[in-house]
Amino acid sequence: MRRNGRVTVLGSQRRRLSYSAVRPTREQAWETLTRYTTSEALLRHALAVEASVGFYARRSGEDEELWRATALLHDFDYEMHPTLDKHPQDGAPILREEGYPEELVEAVLSHAEHLQLPRDTPLKKTLFACDELSGFVHACGLVRPTGLDGLEPKSVRKKLKQPSFAAGVHRDEVYAGAELLGLELDDHIANVVTALQPIAKELGLRTAADAT
Ligand SMILES: [Fe+2]
Ligand SMILES: [Fe+2]
Repeated sequence: MRRNGRVTVLGSQRRRLSYSAVRPTREQAWETLTRYTTSEALLRHALAVEASVGFYARRSGEDEELWRATALLHDFDYEMHPTLDKHPQDGAPILREEGYPEELVEAVLSHAEHLQLPRDTPLKKTLFACDELSGFVHACGLVRPTGLDGLEPKSVRKKLKQPSFAAGVHRDEVYAGAELLGLELDDHIANVVTALQPIAKELGLRTAADAT
């Protein structure tokens, strides 16, 4: 029994090690995400956060593929764990089992305020900073006839001050995120708008071309 137990542990460790050595791709992350998530709203949220995090990865010369995969997976378990006593902490072991590297898993865990984990890497900071704001900018785009086209940081800031608009978005996390990146809020908003524009159609947004 003891020997069998040890063999099993060694086997799973070896499997995990060999998987972890493989760099995750955006495609793998999408495959994992869509296996656990069917809600269109959640998939759109994942795509929006991916676009924003990917924008910052490219701009600062970071590992864009890893950052995109992390962003896609940050809420992958939300459909099965919609409460904070489970999300995202009960999803993390699944990501490890699927072979995702610790760097990705820890970043996913750190996006959750209630876990109070340190955001001590550029990836963790960026994921946190893009999570709520991407959702908010997306919501702003949905109520405009031209979507994100012509959306100014000033009007996003104005909407942030209206508690009834996109009430689920935590304003304090939006402000804290910009600060964490060392950016003025207007610059962070403008970056997120720019990041989301190329995927407007996937996000169900109209564009200036639709309005003419
Ligand atoms: Fe989350
Ligand atoms: Fe999220």
